[in-house]
Amino acid sequence: MKKMTTTVAACVALLPALALAQALAENKDQSWSAANAEKVRALQAKGNVKAGAEAYKAYCETCHLPNGGGNPDGSIPQLAGQQPTVLIKQLADIRSGLRYNPTMQPFAKKLADAQEVANVAAYISTLCIPNENGRYAGPDAAEMVASGKLLYDKECAQCHQPNGEGVKEMFYPVLAGQHYYYLLRQMTDIRDGRRGNANPEMVRVIKKYNPEQMLAIAAYQASLTTPSTMLMAHGSMCKPLATRDGKVK
Ligand code: HEC
Ligand code: HEC
Repeated sequence: MKKMTTTVAACVALLPALALAQALAENKDQSWSAANAEKVRALQAKGNVKAGAEAYKAYCETCHLPNGGGNPDGSIPQLAGQQPTVLIKQLADIRSGLRYNPTMQPFAKKLADAQEVANVAAYISTLCIPNENGRYAGPDAAEMVASGKLLYDKECAQCHQPNGEGVKEMFYPVLAGQHYYYLLRQMTDIRDGRRGNANPEMVRVIKKYNPEQMLAIAAYQASLTTPSTMLMAHGSMCKPLATRDGKVK
């Protein structure tokens, strides 16, 4: 595990922004990161925030909401705060059908081309990050979060990072701030082979968990708050961090 963390860290340090598309292209033998031409072009394009705002308003905000917060019930993911490379990869995968999402696909297909995909990702990256994601709320929440942390630190953190901020250059998504039920559904889809673009190493890891372990990991992930390192790179929280009892930290 230790070795892998070091390798990932080294890759991150070495990969200049424009090498992203190259990294994808080199991964073309792996279906989770199949390099379709659109994905590569969108990653290389400079997104136009203004045009992206118009497209987002027209095709995305009815579901993902104007603030990009999605729905705490987990039916719709939060997009604000997600790594821009992840937004592009997921959009391209949903457009091509590699990630099966029949609800959203017709809307994703309204984006004309790779440039529009880049535009909308650039716009989403300007949104402030809401601080009210859906969390696990059972009476045993403290125990679940604690046991989820043990599993997460052991088998997930080397890619998604200990604080849940993911790795932009490797297309590892941000998990901090995401809705609990969405995370749980994705983990289940990944385990059962329903998410066509899932990283095979992750599928191998998730396959062995029982339902209670899945709940615990999702509970822990959803308890992670947006890390300050991400805020420096990305922008800001939408309002001062408030604890659940309403006190400002
Ligand atoms: C009809 C509702 C709907 C519309 C409209 C919609 N989406 Fe989605 N979107 C969803 C749902 C539902 C999911 C999660 C699917 C799942 O559970 O696998 C999703 C997932 C995503 C994801 C993946 C997030 C992640 O964390 O992996 C991205 C990125 C995304 N949408 C962007 C967009 C953009 C950009 C638009 C506009 C072009 C859009 N969506 C329009 C419903 C919608
Ligand atoms: C080898 C690196 C790696 C490991 C280890 C890994 N993941 Fe992932 N994870 C990824 C990648 C890459 C994606 C995005 C896959 C894609 O493109 O659809 C992802 C996506 C996810 C998502 C969906 C996020 C979203 O926004 O839709 C969840 C939830 C998740 N991982 C949870 C986990 C959990 C829980 C573990 C540990 C049990 C884990 N991952 C281990 C690389 C990894």
